[in-house]
Order: sequence, then C-alpha cells, then structure tokens
Amino acid sequence: MKIIDGKVHRFVELIVYGCQMNVSDAERMAGQLASIGYEPTEAMGEADLILINTCCVRESAEDRVYGKIGEIKHLKEQNPALIFGITGCMAQKEGEALIRRAPHIDFVLGTNKVHELTHVVQEIEAERGHVVDVQFAETELPEGMPVARQNKFSVWVPIMYGCNNFCTYCIVPYVRGRERSRRPEEVVAEVREAVRQGAKEVTLLGQNVNSYGKDHKRADFADLLKMVDEVPGIERVRFMTSHPKDLSDKLIETIRAGKHICEHIHLPVQHGSNRILRAMHRIYTVEDYRALVARIRAALPTVSLTTDLIVGFPGETEEDFSELLAFLREIRYDSAYTFLYSKRSGTPAATMDGQVPEKVKHERLERLMAVQDAISREKNEALLGTEAEVLVEGPSKHDAAVWNGRTRTNKLVLFPHGEEQPGDLVRVKITQPQTWVLKGERL
Ligand code: SAH
Ligand code: SF4
Ligand code: F3S
Repeated sequence: MKIIDGKVHRFVELIVYGCQMNVSDAERMAGQLASIGYEPTEAMGEADLILINTCCVRESAEDRVYGKIGEIKHLKEQNPALIFGITGCMAQKEGEALIRRAPHIDFVLGTNKVHELTHVVQEIEAERGHVVDVQFAETELPEGMPVARQNKFSVWVPIMYGCNNFCTYCIVPYVRGRERSRRPEEVVAEVREAVRQGAKEVTLLGQNVNSYGKDHKRADFADLLKMVDEVPGIERVRFMTSHPKDLSDKLIETIRAGKHICEHIHLPVQHGSNRILRAMHRIYTVEDYRALVARIRAALPTVSLTTDLIVGFPGETEEDFSELLAFLREIRYDSAYTFLYSKRSGTPAATMDGQVPEKVKHERLERLMAVQDAISREKNEALLGTEAEVLVEGPSKHDAAVWNGRTRTNKLVLFPHGEEQPGDLVRVKITQPQTWVLKGERL
C-alpha cells in the first residue's frame, strides 16, 4: 500500500504459469481486481495481494509453483497484512491440501471460480482466515467479467472451457471440467469490443476448439470463426488448439475462404506410432492424421503447421520412437513443442506398465529435438528473400533497437526500428532466417 497525494493505492502482483487459457483467466482476474482498486505491480515487495495462477500439466510446472510459494513465505512474515492466493489448475487439483502444506496461503480458488475472486479477496480483507473454493457446480457460464488485457493489439478470447477427451496422460479434463462453450453472440460481442479498443489480432482459445458448440448447438466452430472473421476492423484471426480427431472439411473451407483467418494451424499429434496413439486415447491413427494434413495443405498451400509431441509415454519402445522420428520427417512441421512424459497421478497412464526410465526419455528428447530443429531451420531458410506481413508486437528483449513481430503464419520476426509502432502491420523482407526466428528489414 502507498499513499500518493493523499490517496491510498493498493497493488496486486499476478504470477502466471501454464497455457494461454491461464493467461486469459489472469486477465479477467486483473480486470476484477482493478474494479475493487488493486493496481498491477511487478515488484513483489510492494504488493498487498499476490496471486499465483498455477499449472499442473507436468510435474515440473508444479515444482516451479511450490518454489514460488516458498519464496512468498518470507514476504508474508515481513508483512502479515499481505493477502496470498492460489488460483488455476493446481488450486483445483490440490484444494485444501495446499493450505495444509503452506499455511501462509490465504485462499485457494478453483478454475471454475474465476468470477468469485473479488468476493473472496474482500472477505479476507474484512475478516482474514482461510477460504477454499474449488467447487464445480454446473451453472451458467459467467459472462461480463471485466478484463485487463496485457496486450491491446493482440488479444485472447476464450470460446470454451474444459475438455472431454481424457487423453490418458493428461490432467486437464480433471482440473478444468467438462466442455462448456460460450454463446456465439457473447464471443462476437467481446471481439467487437476488443477491436473497438484497438485490437488487430484475436486468438480464439479452447482446449479443443473443434468441438466448440457441441453442447449448445447454436453454432459450430467453423460458423463462429466466420462470424469473428466478419467483425469490422479485425485484421487477423487465430485459434488454438485444434484436436486432429474433429477438424472438419467445413473448417478447412472456412479458413480458406476467410479474409482475416491466419494460415497457421497448431495441430498436436503427440506421437507417430499407432500403438502409442491408441494407448494415449487420441482417437486418430497416423494414417488419419496424414490424410488430414494432405487435405489442409491442398486447400491452404502456404499454411504453417505446428505440433506438440510427448516422448517417453509408458510402453514407448525404440521402434515406436523411430516411427515418431520418421513421421516428423514426413510431415515437416514448422515447429514443435516437445515434452518429456510426466506422470500425473489419477490419470490412466500413471499406472500403465512400461514406464520409461528418465535417462531414456531425456536421450530420446535430445534426438527428437535435433530432428525437428533441422526441419524448422530448413523451412525457415526457404523463406530467405521473401516478404511477409508482420504485426509489430514491441521491442525485442535483447535489443531495444529491434522490433518483435509475427507473420500470419505465426513466425517470430525481428527487424530494426523505423517509424512504425506496436500494433502496426508492416511488410518485412526476410534476410536472415534462423531456426527460431526470421530476421529481416522493413520494406
Ligand atoms: N488441449 C491442448 C493442450 C493441452 S496441454 C491439446 O490437446 O493439444 C499442452 C500439451 O502438454 C499437450 O498437447 C501435450 O503435448 C502436453 N502434455 C499434456 N499432459 C502431459 C504429460 N502428462 N506429460 C507431458 N506432456 C503433457
Ligand atoms: Fe489434455 Fe487431450 Fe484434452 Fe488436450 S485434448 S487438454 S491433451 S485431454
Ligand atoms: Fe496447465 Fe491448466 Fe493450461 S494444467 S496447460 S494451465 S489448462
């Protein structure tokens, strides 16, 4: 708390781990907290309220959160008035156990309770004590929450919450609940408002956007994408994540016919062996996925494809792993997020036979990354001398004289500063393609 010109200022530090859905939730938390007078700060010592919006998709994510919880204990000793809350997926998974383990936590709020945040904070301000609320009552989706966006030009818009797929390795369906789709008119209204406030790019978010609307049947994902594409003033429309099992031909045609829909699809394959895909409960086979990629590339010749891969799933043999490498060489993704399988208790894979030793997992991950990095580099090198439309994001972390931006295909571009400003769409010539970035010059 600070008193500036006789006015009391209170500050919140919001620490966010995990996926874009967590970033998006955090923006709604920040919006609500602003409505009761909390201003954002990045200086932990200054905060009156610290929130960690947590992830538990892998053990490493949880370890980071426990490390942070430990750090905050000292702050709380110095400043007992500090309010400390845990939200997000680990809050949902652990509930009260978090407070038993770390009694300096004041409250634990589950993933379905984002809209309750101000109430809980005010309750603790008034009477202290602990609050735990991780209930998953099936109620109407909360709408109309204020949102404090991190980036005004490129915005996240959640279109659905939860997941019904239960891939056997994954904790997300347990901590995010079943699929619930927002109404199309709510999504479109939010997009319109963001564009009115200056947004150029909108990314529609869901664990599996292709099953959008299966619950309310008011519109499917292709219909929604078309509605968003038609919002006046919008420049770019993106979406993630697409599950390969239900990416329809109607959707491919909608992307092709769209005016602002970016030619990038994040299409997690997870593995390249049918035996492993079956054990993962991914529903598709390597053959299905290959045919889907062929349909996508036939309709969208300039599309970039990215993916997620897991190595060391239980029972993965050297032969399965070779199939995965061969599949990568065949599909030639633009880039891939690669993960070591992490055992999540409560999921079916955690108790499967044939858990792969850590050493083997690490060794396979190295080999996998070497194959993918070479492909990413070759694909980027093919862009030497080409021109791309880039949305300027802001200064590069390493060099303030250089702008960061993204192509429509979601590739990171660095180019020296000119007159342009963040939020501008500019044309850049690619002069130095690398594995992770394209360096270029403004045209
Ligand atoms: N709904 C999205 C993203 C889920 S989490 C999707 O289905 O693609 C993001 C990625 O984390 C997943 O795609 C998967 O590759 C990875 N992941 C999930 N659970 C994991 C686990 N137990 N161990 C390692 N990686 C995991
Ligand atoms: Fe997890 Fe699978 Fe759902 Fe993605 S589709 S969130 S990997 S269960
Ligand atoms: Fe993590 Fe939850 Fe996202 S577990 S990946 S923050 S949905």
